[in-house]
Amino acid sequence: MWGGRFEGGPSAIMREINASIPFDKALWRQDIAASKAHVAMLGAMGIVADGDAIAIRDGLDAVAAEYAASGVPEDWDLEDIHMTTESRLAALIGPVAGRLHTARSRNDQVATDFRLWVRDAIDEADAGLEALQKALVTRAGEHAGSIMPGFTHLQTAQPVTLGHHLMAYYEMTARDRSRFADARVRLNKCPLGAAALAGTGFPIDREMTAQALGFAAPTANSLDSVSDRDFALDYLMAASQCALHLSRLAEEFIIWASQPFGFVALPDALSTGSSIMPQKKNPDAAELVRGHAGRITGCLVALMMTMKGLPLAYSKDMQDDKPPVFEAAGLLALSIAAMTGMIADTAFRTERMRAAAELGYATATDLADWLVREGDIPFREAHHITGAAVKLAESRGVPLDQLPLADLKSIDSRIDARVFSALSVEASVAARKSHGGTAPDQVRERVAEARAVLGLE
Ligand code: ARG
Repeated sequence: MWGGRFEGGPSAIMREINASIPFDKALWRQDIAASKAHVAMLGAMGIVADGDAIAIRDGLDAVAAEYAASGVPEDWDLEDIHMTTESRLAALIGPVAGRLHTARSRNDQVATDFRLWVRDAIDEADAGLEALQKALVTRAGEHAGSIMPGFTHLQTAQPVTLGHHLMAYYEMTARDRSRFADARVRLNKCPLGAAALAGTGFPIDREMTAQALGFAAPTANSLDSVSDRDFALDYLMAASQCALHLSRLAEEFIIWASQPFGFVALPDALSTGSSIMPQKKNPDAAELVRGHAGRITGCLVALMMTMKGLPLAYSKDMQDDKPPVFEAAGLLALSIAAMTGMIADTAFRTERMRAAAELGYATATDLADWLVREGDIPFREAHHITGAAVKLAESRGVPLDQLPLADLKSIDSRIDARVFSALSVEASVAARKSHGGTAPDQVRERVAEARAVLGLE
């Protein structure tokens, strides 16, 4: 393509280190679409004759049909998807193919293709997260009143409902979706027409190509257009944050599926067995979601390191932008799908959860709250009295509500028989009806709101 200036050809090492076609062939659909938008504009502006523009357009369609039928050929001498397509176009329609690259450089071309690709990846993540949210609100609605232990430090803290716990992940994924949506807005400007770095002397219409490719507007600065990759970093940051949420959810399922917990029976379809231990059912899908979060974050860091020291405008380092984005997108899509299946098809063992909520003095705060409410005792003092009650119950090996009233009275005479109604796990969750609290009625309200947002009835 640049033979005019060279006497010798590239070495084998040069060809290999330079070739991006092994991975950037994934951009072929975007590359064809952007080239078709470009040539239509060149034709409309009279930069290329109408007949030539039509021949190029039809030729690009023919190349696309070949790629769709038999894949993109990988010739390292052609370096990347842009040269591969142009060379195939020339083979099909002859020298007129050479007019396509008027008023364009691979620098604005790759920036455009990659934005289009990342935009699709954002839309794919959003659709996946929407499906995950639908599964979450469905299961949360079923279990708005199912009681389980809530933890801090993974120590029993207060009873909560399973529905409330699942809706916590609805909230996280809602913020994830909004991060992707923000990234999409910032991404959605078209760099095509920035050319190599300085713009072009040809009378191009950048509004026209931007519109044809679904962008809100052309980008404003040609140097920025070809050298920024923050749209890809925005995507990777949103993907990393999302993967981190999925990893925490996966971790909870791993813990819940362990025999001492026994809170869930994971779907067979998302578990594996052991080659030696016949009884085993392992949560491999959840473990891989947890693992993938690390790799996705690694992809973010990789691209940050690629970009951090580059002067304006394009440098070849930027060719390394694509593998981490492609890798992260694949891992994220799998992670979202795995967790959606896990949420939809896990059997929750609510009797085990409820029994666990009875352990660990989960309603101790309710006793303290009762003393504040009924005895007008300052909370700090109530906390102290309750601590003594827990200590006594623990020494007897009984739950709080099985301590005889006389024993409770010996700790503080202001305690009377009405206290027992506050000490059950049902009473405990029902009492927490502050906005966003775990009371089943609160959870049902939040589920109803979420269902409306998701367009479920
Ligand atoms: N394969 C290149 C990339 O992905 C395309 C841009 C090449 N531009 C250049 N000036 N060499 O970055």
